[in-house]
Amino acid sequence: MKNIIITGGAGFIGSHVVREFVKNNPDKKIINLDALTYAGNLENLKDIENAPNYIFEKADITKEEEIEKLFRRYKPDSVVHLAAESHVDRSIADPNAFINTNVIGTANLLNMCRKYWALSPVESRGNSDGKKRMHLFYHVSTDEVYGALGDTGFFTEQTPYDPQSPYSASKAASDHLVRAYGNTYGVPFILSNCSNNYGPNHFPEKLIPLCISNILQEKPLPVYGDGNYTRDWLFVVDHARAIHQIFFEAKTGETYNIGGFNEWKNIDLIKELIKQMDEKLGREKGASERLITYVKDRPGHDKRYAIDATKLNKDLGWKPSVSFQEGLGRTIDWYLENQEWLKNVTSGAYQNYYARQYSS
Ligand code: NAD
Ligand code: DAU
Repeated sequence: MKNIIITGGAGFIGSHVVREFVKNNPDKKIINLDALTYAGNLENLKDIENAPNYIFEKADITKEEEIEKLFRRYKPDSVVHLAAESHVDRSIADPNAFINTNVIGTANLLNMCRKYWALSPVESRGNSDGKKRMHLFYHVSTDEVYGALGDTGFFTEQTPYDPQSPYSASKAASDHLVRAYGNTYGVPFILSNCSNNYGPNHFPEKLIPLCISNILQEKPLPVYGDGNYTRDWLFVVDHARAIHQIFFEAKTGETYNIGGFNEWKNIDLIKELIKQMDEKLGREKGASERLITYVKDRPGHDKRYAIDATKLNKDLGWKPSVSFQEGLGRTIDWYLENQEWLKNVTSGAYQNYYARQYSS
């Protein structure tokens, strides 16, 4: 495979995935296709923007003619698809934007693959490994498609889909479309479903970067409900490494869960952030705890996510390379060193509108 389109490459995870592919594949052309919505930021890719194997194309996956032009121009033999509306609170406020990008946009890309790839039935049936593959649609998805867990248990690749928010329902629909196009038209695909990511370039509407930004500015830290909701956190670079490895080594038709076996209750995570940041900022121990503010809960809030990533470890030997303590430290340091980035993305109109909307 020579020409790889990565969609959503200017976003949080996409920027790390683009970097991983550009750095490790000087013989391949990496085309970053991104509409540059509020979440897309080319500053995230400054360090590789002049790499000879990197090209950026501004295009919207909901507009067929825009992506068809790029399929004609670059003749991509594979697509790594990350472009999406990704924030649950926004999906509650405006579900249609999620249906358009996540469902229609994914269908548009699949239609292009169908139209421009000469598909062999053998390729699509799962008996082709990365070395023999001619084409691949790699779909990046989320653990939220599995719904919510109680106090125990894990999501495996066999867990039935049970999405609970407009965001997760739109991602579940896109996952189903990918498998259906594989089954019906022979589009060779791989899917992965990952847990919550954190790290540099994370837009400060999501819990960790929002709290880092607010601790820094001594603003309230909005805790939804009782704060006992649980998420399973993975350093974004480890997610990007997993995607790169699965892309080249996994068999067609496979699905992998990606996660770090690293569960935190939201309130404990916020207190850990406060601990590390107060120390780094030279504040008195626990000084920022006064910023913790309980607000009205997110409607339909999923109680707990936890990924079982055993299959990925057994098949491909992948495991996280960065511990949570190290990853969180690196993340905080990045935000402290990149306050200009933070200012740029939080300028003007954007002021955690969604958290305020839920506050009583
Ligand atoms: P993000 O919101 O930071 O970035 C999304 C990117 O997609 C942006 O660059 C944006 O400009 C682009 N985009 C949005 N609509 C587009 C359109 N119509 N056409 C072209 N580009 C468009 O998202 P993220 O957090 O980096 O997530 C990336 C992917 O990974 C998503 O598919 C998401 O569902 C999935 N995922 C995210 C997480 C997480 O913790 N953030 C975990 C698992 C899976
Ligand atoms: O699990 C993977 C998913 O993780 C991805 O598919 C999504 O794209 C990504 O946004 C993330 O979804 P969450 O809803 O879990 O992430 P978020 O950072 O929005 O919220 C994390 C938890 O913190 C959740 O329980 C809600 C809570 N929360 C969030 C915000 C923004 C708060 O208590 N206060 C807040 O202000």
